[in-house]
Amino acid sequence: MQPASEIDTEGRELAQLVADFPGFRIWREDVCGRVRYIALSQHPDLRPHTVITADLAELREALARGQRVPGWPQPTFSPAAPSVARIYDHVLGGKDHFPADRAAARELLERFPEVAQIARANRAFLARAVRHVARQQVTQFVDLGAGLPASPNVHETTRQVIPGARVAYVDNDPMVLAHARAVLAVDDQVAVVAGDLRAPAAVLADPALISLIDFSKPVCVVLASVLHFLPAQQADAAVAAFREQMSPGSYLVISVGTSSGTDPELIRCLQATYAGTAPVTARTEAEITSWFDGLLLARPGLTDVWAWRAGQSRQAHRPPQSRARFVVGVARKPSGPGPWRP
Ligand SMILES: C[S@@+](CC[C@H](N)C(=O)[O-])C[C@H]1O[C@@H](n2cnc3c(N)ncnc32)[C@H](O)[C@@H]1O
Repeated sequence: MQPASEIDTEGRELAQLVADFPGFRIWREDVCGRVRYIALSQHPDLRPHTVITADLAELREALARGQRVPGWPQPTFSPAAPSVARIYDHVLGGKDHFPADRAAARELLERFPEVAQIARANRAFLARAVRHVARQQVTQFVDLGAGLPASPNVHETTRQVIPGARVAYVDNDPMVLAHARAVLAVDDQVAVVAGDLRAPAAVLADPALISLIDFSKPVCVVLASVLHFLPAQQADAAVAAFREQMSPGSYLVISVGTSSGTDPELIRCLQATYAGTAPVTARTEAEITSWFDGLLLARPGLTDVWAWRAGQSRQAHRPPQSRARFVVGVARKPSGPGPWRP
């Protein structure tokens, strides 16, 4: 018979595994005096599907292997190295950045000053897009690659239309998460979720996300100014995973830099600015259009960031001469089979 102290230790380790791998159902079985542990994935894309072992350490290793984010390392907090979120915050005129971020931003803006105007146009588009979706009575929003708080934040805009709107902010940068928890998580209808778009199944299985957002009801998935920081295959997989999960009546909001119509020198410059931080990947307009496959693009379709339903502010955000193109789209998942009318 196993001593009680060993059973206690095992119980604690098992409880820790359950807490560390929320996308899995994990339990202990005792069959004819032989103990085994079983982990079952709770999401079709979350690997490994099943693990059965008598050894808790082996179980942890197998689950961790399946969860490892492929490709570039996860961001860690280091004021010495520029970060995607802090460079963007500086370009927008925010206050959460360090000398390394300011130096990287300065080098970029000296050569391509229009990048600052595009960043501001992107924030303005984001507010217009989520307001439009909230007006369609969608009450749940998932902001993926949410960034450092920048007013108006998504929950502030949506709540002007729907006071009880639920918003989940997801990011993989520890500084973004810390600031978001301090500034954005104003009540229990706002969640801040640590998640990496390179592992979308793990994000979709995160208990903090699914306890707030019900994907069986319409939801607005926002991917603003983040997909160009992922390699092409991972960006495609992330969009497909969320698009698949969205129920009819849901919306997909995307803004992203494109290689179509952008000076290749700017793309090289961005790749140098973010070297060691994120793999800047510029996609063609046709590739970006394919992210909306099976969805109904709202008018005016995929268009330049400053032009989407901008009304009077159209000229305010249009750079006089831009060597950069940044495109946006807002699309709804229809119910029933197509064809669909715009
Ligand atoms: C340029 S900011 C955009 C912020 C906001 N979405 C906006 O449009 O104003 C990009 C954000 O995406 C986050 N990000 C980059 N790669 C990511 C990934 N693989 N998973 C999750 N977040 C990521 C960065 O940490 C950063 O906060």
